[in-house]
Amino acid sequence: MAVHKIAVIGGDGIGPEVIDQAVRAAEVAARKHDGAELKWNHLPWSTAYYKQHGRMLPEDGWEQLKPYDAILFGAVGDPSVPDKITVHELLLPMRRKFDQYVNLRPAYLFAGVPCPLVGKKPGEIDMLVYRENTEGEYAPVGGNLYPGTENQIAIQTGVFTWKGCERILRAAFEAAQKRPRKKLTSITKSNAQVYGLGLWDDVFNTVRKDYPDVDSSSLLVDAAAMDFVRKPEVFDVVVASNLFGDILTDLSAAVTGSIGLASSANINPTKKFPSMFEPVHGSAPDIAGQGKANPLAAVLSAALMLDHLGLAKSAAAVRKAVATVLAEGRVKTPDLAGTHTTTDMGNAVVEAVG
Ligand code: NAD
Ligand code: IPM
Ligand code: MN
Repeated sequence: MAVHKIAVIGGDGIGPEVIDQAVRAAEVAARKHDGAELKWNHLPWSTAYYKQHGRMLPEDGWEQLKPYDAILFGAVGDPSVPDKITVHELLLPMRRKFDQYVNLRPAYLFAGVPCPLVGKKPGEIDMLVYRENTEGEYAPVGGNLYPGTENQIAIQTGVFTWKGCERILRAAFEAAQKRPRKKLTSITKSNAQVYGLGLWDDVFNTVRKDYPDVDSSSLLVDAAAMDFVRKPEVFDVVVASNLFGDILTDLSAAVTGSIGLASSANINPTKKFPSMFEPVHGSAPDIAGQGKANPLAAVLSAALMLDHLGLAKSAAAVRKAVATVLAEGRVKTPDLAGTHTTTDMGNAVVEAVG
């Protein structure tokens, strides 16, 4: 039996709650549908770990992670410790250190899920957002002058490289080529940010020549935000820089019913380093510890992980189980206007997979 080694970092808040359910669903699916064994290793790296050890992960933490076949991640962030520690010592460096430059975030309107937009049918919203994940507006470049004084100056620099833009754009074009609609929208704000996103546009206009079969166009992010609400069905593959991809994927989650359904993959396509799979949402301190979190975003992220591990049948089985549970509508967490718990939802998926 093939064995795949997975590092599990539940993290903070609802992170461990939703990841527990994702682990259960993936394990059952892998065994049943691909005859594969998933060997989980739970790492306690979190705000609690930080409070005990003064750091989010051990000194050799990154080395520890390298041999894994994948990382399944919940979320980090706790009101008692600044995000510039939790998020900036664990989540963001992981994406950069392991060169997980493709952040894939699907958004799909499942049957049985109430859509906040009027008249949208199941499957009508179906997009894949490709978010650049290692540079752009999130580059850790900047600083403060005269901190704490009224003369304080903060500088936050965006870094856009030809290579960084090219590799995410090519990944998105390759994905668009494989989809029935073969459509791609590149989203920028190059009318205002002429250097960084101007470079992005130059790369886009070069790369698109290699994909003449893809119907590609460019859209400014303010107009895109409007169209994600006004007519989300027109989008197929969407590609955007780090910050805009972040914001637009909370929006694509909202228009497809709930952030509790939005999955993501942080992929290093070279496989030199492990890829990481996590829900789009955060640690949700407002509902943590209450069994209210919808685990399906984490479950669907685990399905993306199964795909990455080459366990396509298991991935499809997990997605089918999720679609069935949602369509039946018997089990609904509060974000879907129900009263069931995180574990109830996990149980329903595990049952449907099995
Ligand atoms: P959030 O995504 O944690 O929560 C936003 C809203 O969505 C809240 O009302 C929350 O209750 C709801 N929500 C989120 N996930 C849900 C789920 N599975 N089921 C039902 N409802 C859900 O965003 P936030 O409140 O802005 O951030 C909280 C903390 O999480 C912050 O510290 C932030 O930096 C961090 N964060 C971490 C990650 C990550 O680790 N990947 C991602 C986003 C935010
Ligand atoms: C996400 C999160 C992170 C991001 C935060 C926690 C830095 O919002 O994964 O979407 O912006 O990438
Ligand atoms: Mn986000």
